[in-house]
Amino acid sequence: MAKKEQLITGVDIGSHAVKICQLQKAGKGYKLLAVGSSTLPPGVVEDGVLQEPEVVGKVIAALFKNLKIKNPKVGISISGYSVIVKKINLEYMSDEELSEYISAEAEQYIPFDIHDVYLDFQKLPSSSQENDRSDIMLVAAKKEVIDDYLLMLKEQKLKPVLVDVDGFALENIWEEMSGNGENIALVDIGASKMNINIISEGVSVLARDIVVGSNQLTDQLVNALDIEEEEAEKIKLGMTSAEEHQETVEEIFTQTCTQWVLEIKKAIDLYQANNPDKPLKALILSGGGAKVKGLTAYIGRETGLDVILFNPFEAMIVDEKKIDRQYLDSIAPEMAIAAGLAIRQAAF
Ligand SMILES: Nc1ncnc2c1ncn2[C@@H]1O[C@H](COP(=O)(O)OP(=O)(O)OP(=O)(O)O)[C@@H](O)[C@H]1O
Ligand SMILES: [Mg+2]
Repeated sequence: MAKKEQLITGVDIGSHAVKICQLQKAGKGYKLLAVGSSTLPPGVVEDGVLQEPEVVGKVIAALFKNLKIKNPKVGISISGYSVIVKKINLEYMSDEELSEYISAEAEQYIPFDIHDVYLDFQKLPSSSQENDRSDIMLVAAKKEVIDDYLLMLKEQKLKPVLVDVDGFALENIWEEMSGNGENIALVDIGASKMNINIISEGVSVLARDIVVGSNQLTDQLVNALDIEEEEAEKIKLGMTSAEEHQETVEEIFTQTCTQWVLEIKKAIDLYQANNPDKPLKALILSGGGAKVKGLTAYIGRETGLDVILFNPFEAMIVDEKKIDRQYLDSIAPEMAIAAGLAIRQAAF
C-alpha cells in the first residue's frame, strides 16, 4: 500500500504568539487535524530574531503536547531584517547553470556578506514575451538567525524540514484555498509588523514589512490611560470596558487604523501606477491585527477594493467534535501563515 502523503506541521513563530497547524490531504482539499496558538512573553522574539530560544522552545513543546501532535516534521517561516527577497532578471539558463551562477554572483544582489547567508532561488513563471531572459526570485537569509531557530526546534526533538518566508506561505495558502490567480494584495497585520505583498499574475511584485501592528494599540492605551499592559490588552480586545475612557480608546483606534490604511494605500498606489493595466481584484487581510472591529470595512471604503478577512479553514473538513467552529473562525485570520506552512509536503 502506498504510504499516505504526509504534510508537515506548520509552526508560525510570531512576536506575540506561536501558531501551530496540522493538516491532512482529503480528496482535492484538506482536513484540519489540529490547530492552536500560545502567547509568548514580550521580547522573546523580536524583529524576527529569537532572543530567548529556551522560552520559545518550551512554549512550542507544550503546544505540541496539548494538541497531541505526533508528527515531528515541522516547517517554520521567517520575516524581517534577516531575510531579503529579491527579484532578478537574468539571461536564460538551465537549472544547473543558474545554481552555479547564483552561488558565484549573489553578492552583487544582496546587502549581506555572502558567507553569512543561506541562499535559495526559484524561477518565476515569465510574464513577458522575451524568452531569452527569465525572472528569478532570490532569497537570502542570515545563517545566524536561521540556525538559532533550527537549534531551538531540534532541542525540542522536532525535525525542521522547511524554512519558508512569511509572505510566501501566505501567498501559497491563499492561492491554494481560493483557487484563483487574480491580482490581489495580501496584508498581514501582526502584533509588531505589517506585511504587504502584492501578487500580480501569480508573481509577487511588491513586498514590504512595515513596523506597525496591534501592539501599537496596546502601547498607546497603556500610555493614555496609565494602566498595565494586561489591562490594556483586555480593553483592546473588548474583554473589559474602558468605561469613562471610551472616547480616548476610540480615538486611539481611529488614529492607528488611519496610519495602517495610509501604508496600505501607499503600496497599492505604487503598484497601480506601475501596472495601470492590471488592476487589483481584492485585498486579503490576515493576522491578529486584522480583527480590529470595522477595519475590513474601513479599508474597503478607503481603497475601493473588496476586502476579505481571510479564513484559511473555510473550505476545509473539520471534525467539529474535536475543534469548535466558533473558536476556529475567531482565530482563523492569525492562523493563515501556519496553515500556509502546513499544506507543504514532508520530503521522505
Ligand atoms: N480583535 C482584535 N483587535 C485588535 N487586535 C487583536 C485582536 N485580536 C488579536 N489582536 C492582536 O493581534 C496580535 C496577534 O496577532 P498575530 O498572532 O498575527 O501576531 P504575531 O504573528 O505574533 O506578530 P508579528 O507577526 O507582528 O510578529 C496581538 O497583538 C493581539 O493583541
Ligand atoms: Mg505574524
